[in-house]
Amino acid sequence: MLPPQRLAHGAAPASVAAGASTLCSGSCGARSSREWTPRVGGPMGIAGLGLACGFSTRRSTCSRRTARGLKVVRNATESLDRSYLNFTGFPFPLGPVFARRTVRTQIGDGMWTFEQEQKLANIAVNVRMTAIKLEDGSLWVHNPVAPTEECNALLRELDLPVKYIVLGSAQYEHKIFVAPFARRWPDAKVYTVQQWSWPLDLPSAFYGIFATELKDGEDTPWSSEIDKQLLCPKDRLGLGYSASECAFFHRRSKTLICTDALVYVPEDPPAVLDKDELKGLGRTANNFILDLVAFVNWRGSGDVVRKAIAEESGGPSPSDAALLRKGWQRDALLSLYFGPDGGSIVEPSQAFRSIAGRWIVGPVCYSLVYGGKIREDVKEWSERLCEWDVQQILPGHFAGPVGGNPDDIRRAFEVLGENVEATEPPDFALPWPFPQPVRYPAEDLKLLTDIRGALRALNVI
Ligand SMILES: [Fe+2]
Repeated sequence: MLPPQRLAHGAAPASVAAGASTLCSGSCGARSSREWTPRVGGPMGIAGLGLACGFSTRRSTCSRRTARGLKVVRNATESLDRSYLNFTGFPFPLGPVFARRTVRTQIGDGMWTFEQEQKLANIAVNVRMTAIKLEDGSLWVHNPVAPTEECNALLRELDLPVKYIVLGSAQYEHKIFVAPFARRWPDAKVYTVQQWSWPLDLPSAFYGIFATELKDGEDTPWSSEIDKQLLCPKDRLGLGYSASECAFFHRRSKTLICTDALVYVPEDPPAVLDKDELKGLGRTANNFILDLVAFVNWRGSGDVVRKAIAEESGGPSPSDAALLRKGWQRDALLSLYFGPDGGSIVEPSQAFRSIAGRWIVGPVCYSLVYGGKIREDVKEWSERLCEWDVQQILPGHFAGPVGGNPDDIRRAFEVLGENVEATEPPDFALPWPFPQPVRYPAEDLKLLTDIRGALRALNVI
């Protein structure tokens, strides 16, 4: 595998910068400008209503040689438009509403990731598209992201034809870009998981594309290079939602490519996230979220929060590094639990440590999707994934690719086992340094547990 080569508009974090080539606009002094550029495009219909129009952000870019002297990727100036208007989502619009930055990283021989930011109520995570060069010289593109001008330019730079566009999950944040992306690459053939239009199961032609459904037991044109295992639960969730996901195994790199089934929370924030916004989230004083936690006395933490706010207000200002670290930890906990314990929001390091740096099933996915009536289907699917000779895992969010093998997969999905309580330690576990079982702190999972209980009572999950 090659070391990662990152094309980004900004500095990469330390964990990535080692061995990375960076395409930047911020550190090289190139000019930036903003202008109004009306454009119309984007998906149609309920599952992906959106327009690509409006206020564009144009950046001049250049390339540079890294401290390690890796090759210069490009030395050119180009205007790249990041605008993409999306105001859909429930209960909040899935932001950013107006523009999205794209970071391209070469993760191996003929393998690239394209990451953009997605926001829900100002909590940000990265969302990832993967492009793999097939033996015939074409590109297999998994989970397309918003086809901004910048994203398309970064993809065109590879100078490889996009032959297949593949949607691996019916989750909203991944499917909404399939139709607009496919229209930008009209020669590509589109493959999707079952029922990607929900709650109305509309045909893909309604969205202006003609997609082929991925099915178990049916070969795909790329199956000699990329295998697949389909999660297609027998029972549907609320309003007939299929909760389907297709995992892929890239044989040459021994990479498991999944979407939402697994996450690996990294120590440092993904490069595409806005570091200034994370630093703002890392502040305790003058922080809207902390003020809100104190105001509603979230799980009785009002006094603790007010005390922490007073201490920071009266003390020395935290360093940028400390703010970024705390902001990223708060961001990760809020995105993974929605409403972690108030004490974990104020001081997130311990709760962050309990889930970071290992492969886990995301708490939201566990609580609101997998942990109900489709539990056995998911567990059986996870066992099928373990039949592959997996050496690294590339999910749709957070870090990736990161080393991982079938033992890591089994350990992550063990929370779905029969009679397993995901907040309680197992009866027996080998002591550290043996790998420890995955468990979620009960106080942080409480909100999701309550929601899960309500959804179970309503027979939604
Ligand atoms: Fe997702």
